Amino acid sequence: MSIRLERIISPSAAQLAELYAVCSQAPNYWQLTEGKLLPGKAAIAGWFDGSELPVGRKPDDQQIYGVRLGAELIGMVMALRGWRYPEQTMIGLLLLSERWQGKGLGRAVYEAIEGIIRSWPGMRVVRIGIIASNTPAFPFWHRMGFRETGERRRDLSFLADTILLEKPL
Ligand SMILES: CC(C)(COP(=O)(O)OP(=O)(O)OC[C@H]1O[C@@H](n2cnc3c(N)ncnc32)[C@H](O)[C@@H]1OP(=O)(O)O)[C@@H](O)C(=O)NCCC(=O)NCCS
Repeated sequence: MSIRLERIISPSAAQLAELYAVCSQAPNYWQLTEGKLLPGKAAIAGWFDGSELPVGRKPDDQQIYGVRLGAELIGMVMALRGWRYPEQTMIGLLLLSERWQGKGLGRAVYEAIEGIIRSWPGMRVVRIGIIASNTPAFPFWHRMGFRETGERRRDLSFLADTILLEKPL
């Protein structure tokens, strides 16, 4: 099974509907992190409007990819180049439809996005924030080589603190 990352820049209504469908196929994630079964459609559209970009970051620094297996969109991954400093990239979310979890595809997607991140000049660190209540995610990121930095944040849109992990490149 080989996956393909497909960059989405200004999504059409059909692309937004596909992303919404794939998010709705991972209800455990939204339940564990936000206490609901789905993100809102407006929240998904908001990923693309630049409103979450830190000061000084350009629209192209935020890259969102659909994950395709054959013709089917089975997941998504987002990366923000130059998060706290120019050499650091933040992975916003890596999510697969539950039907496709636990089959090695999460690793394939992570390796593909890490390849893209490594191609950006000067990049030294990849960072991920895991909501503490999303306990199944921790072993995955540990397997991908990430370690806790000791930092945690509180964002009231989530059920628990965000735990920060990093991987040096
Ligand atoms: C997290 C997620 C992307 C992982 O993808 P996946 O396809 O299920 O993971 P894989 O099958 O590729 O597993 C990769 C490795 O992690 C390990 N792993 C994954 N989940 C694990 C778990 N819950 N417990 C122990 N090990 C786990 C696997 O054993 C595998 O190890 P190996 O490659 O060294 O043999 C996927 O489960 C998902 O979309 N979850 C919902 C969204 C989410 O929580 N995203 C992360 C937000 S921070």
